Amino acid sequence: MTHDVISGGQSIHAPDNLKKLLQSILQQALTVNDGKVADYIPALAEVKSDYCALTVATLDGKVTSVGDASTPFSIQSISKIFGLMLAMERMGDSLWERVQMEPSGQPFNSIVQLEWERGIPRNPMINAGAILVSDVLVSHYSASKSAVLSMVRGLCNRDTVGVDSRVHESEKDHGARNAALAYLMKSFGNIESDVEEVLDHYFWQCALTMSTEDLARSFAFLANRGKCPRSGKQITSHRDAQRINALLSTSGMYDQSGQFAFTVGLPAKSGVGGGIVAIVPDYGVIAAWSPPLNSFGNSARGMAMIRNLANQLGLSVY
Ligand code: DON
Repeated sequence: MTHDVISGGQSIHAPDNLKKLLQSILQQALTVNDGKVADYIPALAEVKSDYCALTVATLDGKVTSVGDASTPFSIQSISKIFGLMLAMERMGDSLWERVQMEPSGQPFNSIVQLEWERGIPRNPMINAGAILVSDVLVSHYSASKSAVLSMVRGLCNRDTVGVDSRVHESEKDHGARNAALAYLMKSFGNIESDVEEVLDHYFWQCALTMSTEDLARSFAFLANRGKCPRSGKQITSHRDAQRINALLSTSGMYDQSGQFAFTVGLPAKSGVGGGIVAIVPDYGVIAAWSPPLNSFGNSARGMAMIRNLANQLGLSVY
């Protein structure tokens, strides 16, 4: 992997050079006018479409940002990584008897495949998989939400990270499809706890609000063999960090994961709030945010910014 592109005799990673590069990438992204802000709940439909942020956190502790990088937004499906980390720790390898590790090739909230595959979700990055993971957390933690929240606050080193209660409540009010996925899994015996409690955890987790700077700091351990570069704490084993990155590579961008691997080449996760995080092993994390989504549910400008940066710096893992 090439991380040392030289610009005018100086490494592109010199703080001023990286900031200039991020600025030009963000300006270019603002000319992309595809996409539509998520509108399945009012709280997301009201978010200004012109927010735009790009952050790079490198393993030496430097965080370089442009745009609205300290503005918290609804991280939605990016939270699926946090839930999965706790479930992997609690369940060990037996987790993979209840959820698979294959790309789905289907929209993130699809029901059809789940019926064919007898209530075993294709992977933990689609809604059915994340609801299954929420069941593991509700069944194994006396306070599953506190367990997630304290882990997240520790990872990004910010005690004020919280949940948007309006988003949480409206997710519940508009959650019929997710409820259908959960009850279908229950009918196959793959949900242990009370379905409403499981869904409440899932909706709450989707409503976590974080900025691109918080996200980039939080996931640095995935670029560093499971160890947080700031605290030196081993967050997951090296093997689990590799496994999470593998799942992000094959399933993190939903049914656009193949195209993302082809054009960008990094493990990544998106959410319908318009955020995307991309992991660059042994280098750091890129986090982007722009609310308008393409037809797959991925941020149109966020994809453009990460693709542009990864291509210019030669960051593909392949
Ligand atoms: O569960 C849902 O359908 C929403 N909370 C969306 C989660 C999400 O971000 C899925 N994908 N991009």
